[in-house]
Amino acid sequence: MGIISKDIKKAVAILSAEKLVAIPTETVYGLAGNIFSENAIKSIFETKKRPFFNPLIVHIPSIENLKDIASYVPSKAQKLAETFWPGSMTLVLKKQPAIPDLVTAGKDTVAVRVPNHPITLKLLKQLPFPLAAPSANPFGSISPTKAEHVATYFENAIEQVLDGGSCENGIESTIIGFENDEPVIYRLGALALEDIEKVVGPVTLKNKKEIKPDAPGMLARHYAPNTTTYLCDSILEEIEKHQGKRIGILSFKTRFEDDRVTYQIILSEKGDLAEAMSKLYASMHNLDLQNLDIIIAERFPDFGLGKSINDRLQRATYSS
Ligand code: TXA
Ligand code: MG
Repeated sequence: MGIISKDIKKAVAILSAEKLVAIPTETVYGLAGNIFSENAIKSIFETKKRPFFNPLIVHIPSIENLKDIASYVPSKAQKLAETFWPGSMTLVLKKQPAIPDLVTAGKDTVAVRVPNHPITLKLLKQLPFPLAAPSANPFGSISPTKAEHVATYFENAIEQVLDGGSCENGIESTIIGFENDEPVIYRLGALALEDIEKVVGPVTLKNKKEIKPDAPGMLARHYAPNTTTYLCDSILEEIEKHQGKRIGILSFKTRFEDDRVTYQIILSEKGDLAEAMSKLYASMHNLDLQNLDIIIAERFPDFGLGKSINDRLQRATYSS
């Protein structure tokens, strides 16, 4: 794990040399490069094995920098940015002509956010350019919420993982676009839908599992462990169906006393959705290492952050 370090100066040097650094954010770790460097952006796509049609999120140090990225900011977007930045919300807005096509996959819009992590904010303030950063995982696998996860994925491919500890929120940002100036949710995420609606009123949800999604993070199979995973309402009924297998359980708050269970993770014994969300991906990584035949995950209550957790579980699993 020799590439993990807290050295911000080193990160500045690597990024200024048009190479990549994995950066901590409050959602997940990102694989970051200079948005204006063709070399850096190409190597983000190559390192992740991510298709070029899937655009990147631009990370800026402050709301003051938004005018350099977006050419037009609807009033509800401005209000959301003022309320939630720095934070786990990405806005999709009309782009400034200077934003390279490689970053936006040729779209005339750009995704942008101010992340809420002290180390990465410090880094962004020292750089003369914004950072494009997708989640720091190979395309299709679980996003990293610890520096060690990134090192395991990319030990030989990048020079530094800037260590910022465990990501506090633990799933990706909520993505909001604008259609006729009205907010549309393209991806559920770490900022709850209800919190957004308190600020701008009702929003449309377009977070479907589509073949040709608006935000490719919406692809049906995504964020998936290697172990076959099932999502269900009744864990006990699901266990019945898989007799004789090595079964792992991922539950919200309940412990299952059952001889047929080999390994079990409870996301929040006190039933706190934010705590469960923060541990979700690390728990999937952990379950994947237990040499199980299957993982059974429990469906969450369908409100607040539970909705976002269910979205990620659905993409990681076969529903039953
Ligand atoms: O929390 C996060 O958002 C993390 C951290 C590192 O900031 N980043 C992240 O990036 O999740 P990524 O690349 O894994 O997901 C970005 C999503 C993709 O689904 C992409 O399709 C969508 O943002 N996106 C980017 N630009 C877009 C655009 N112009 N229009 C619609 N969707 C866009
Ligand atoms: Mg991702």
